[in-house]
Amino acid sequence: MCGIVGYVGRQGCAEILLDGLGKLEYRGYDSAGIAIGVEDGSVQTVRAEGKLKNLQRAYYQAPFEGLVGLGHTRWATHGSPTESNAHPHRAGRVIIAHNGIIENYASLKEELLASGRTFESATDTEVVAHLIDRELEKNPDLSLHQATQNMLALIEGSYALVIMSTSNPDELIVARHASPMVIGLGEDEYFAASDIPAVLAHTRQFIFLEDGQTAILRRDGLQIFDEQGNSVEMTPRRINWDPISAEKQGYKHFMLKEIFEQPARIADTLRGRLSKELDDVILSEVDISKEWLANVQKIVIVACGTSYWAAQISKHMIERHARIAVECDLASEFRYRDPVLDENTLCVAISQSGETADTLAAMRMAQELGAKTLGICNVVESTIAREANGVLYTHAGPEIGVASTKAFSTQLIASALLAIWLGRRRGNLDAQGASELIQTLRTVPNAMEKILLDAEQYESIAPDFADAQSFLFLGRGPQHIIANEGALKLKEISYIHAEGYAAGELKHGPIALIDEHLPIVVIATKDRVYDKVVSNLEEVKARGGRVIAVVTEGDNHVVNFAEKVFFVPDAHEFIQPILTVVSMQLLSYYIADFKGTDVDQPRNLAKSVTVE
Ligand code: AGP
Repeated sequence: MCGIVGYVGRQGCAEILLDGLGKLEYRGYDSAGIAIGVEDGSVQTVRAEGKLKNLQRAYYQAPFEGLVGLGHTRWATHGSPTESNAHPHRAGRVIIAHNGIIENYASLKEELLASGRTFESATDTEVVAHLIDRELEKNPDLSLHQATQNMLALIEGSYALVIMSTSNPDELIVARHASPMVIGLGEDEYFAASDIPAVLAHTRQFIFLEDGQTAILRRDGLQIFDEQGNSVEMTPRRINWDPISAEKQGYKHFMLKEIFEQPARIADTLRGRLSKELDDVILSEVDISKEWLANVQKIVIVACGTSYWAAQISKHMIERHARIAVECDLASEFRYRDPVLDENTLCVAISQSGETADTLAAMRMAQELGAKTLGICNVVESTIAREANGVLYTHAGPEIGVASTKAFSTQLIASALLAIWLGRRRGNLDAQGASELIQTLRTVPNAMEKILLDAEQYESIAPDFADAQSFLFLGRGPQHIIANEGALKLKEISYIHAEGYAAGELKHGPIALIDEHLPIVVIATKDRVYDKVVSNLEEVKARGGRVIAVVTEGDNHVVNFAEKVFFVPDAHEFIQPILTVVSMQLLSYYIADFKGTDVDQPRNLAKSVTVE
């Protein structure tokens, strides 16, 4: 998830671009750059690794100015965050900034290399610049827009593009598919941006480009085209947000914004990783050989906090579909026991930040004991990602809210991909079985959108439960894990004590807690243990417990035992935990918001625990 800003108008744009990139910092950056068309018709570029202030420092060392330009902050998904990989990228007369993933860039790059073109970076974006430049080279009479349209017919994947060229220095070309792009309208000036905050200081009139659309921005006007190249009229919308709420895209908290962006981030995490035949998973970055995997005796997964609950779900998925024994350890516990592992062990470290001290130490310990290691991380080139033998990135984008939401659900997606990948390579999952699981994974974004449509239902019950002193969360199997994640979400943002428990354990103690003051959240979705969970639910109701149930849509039985019922779409067991966790997130968010706690930065908590 990167940040892009573009400008065409009547004023020097350097400050506009740099300020705009600053407003997109929440989208993450590990490198950045700007390019501006200067008076002599050339385009000057400056790029810098690391924080935005490095770019500003580099720019002011040798400033340049012009009326047309573009800028980019990179949140690396392919290729390390170096200056050479930073955008804007240039190929011949074309300069480009891109947000998204070009899935077929490798084959296109091979073709371009074979034709004698050379590359400076490891990015997919540079390939796009070469494709446009090649079109202009083949036919100098082509407009930049036509050359761009010809390129778009060749690529597959997601993109938001801002393009300029030395042969057409007075215009920007914009294109989008599956990555956001807005166009700001000013007085004889136009803006392009990944998100509203980047240019809200200059205009409140915006057009939201739709998938497949392209646009030409010139000082004297704006043209928008549909996928077929037909001119279309779009009605601008006035945005009245203040700058701060604009960074949250109008949501009250980053956590709520990140809950709602999960379908898109899950689509990003799946993108480019499903074989064309949809009967296998492509995890090129994992870099662990099939031969070595054949001898793996067990997998140990180490993690902390919410990532530990992702580890437990991963265990269920891998044992069920890859038939490899999996142990899960809290990293802080793993470090101080005497684990039995060796060169036939795969140690998986799950960490959003890739910097959690206990998880890093546990992974290093496993390496010292001979295990191969695999990181499942959200931050490219983080310490765990760098030191592991292989890495599987979630593409959740920067997660600003301390309470992990989209990072967790994309960790579950990554775990599901890993389970299929392992199962196919161990020979325990055939093509048909893999295809069924992959088709199921592809339904997650839409199924999740359905749950998010019910958000107001969760908001409406918050006042009824905000005064509770404690909550119990119950489930069985993978839903027992989600019950624990739900308890963690509630306690860390609302400061209400909460405990997740295996529903089958009720009689072994926690049933003594039940009375009319204790809310009990029960996850009772239609799965192999549904009937067992329902009988637990009846036990709770019989003792006066206040039941909040999460059930499969169409279930009209549980409603007889619950004070409140939330529905999730009927889904394959493989993806049910990925759906029910959204209910947990929404319930905990609205209770905390009603209580008025600092949802995005709860007391005593840090986003990344880099100390023991
Ligand atoms: C989750 O909501 C918490 N913020 C916390 O438990 C977090 O999951 C834990 O600190 C692990 O962080 P990591 O994934 O970056 O390693």
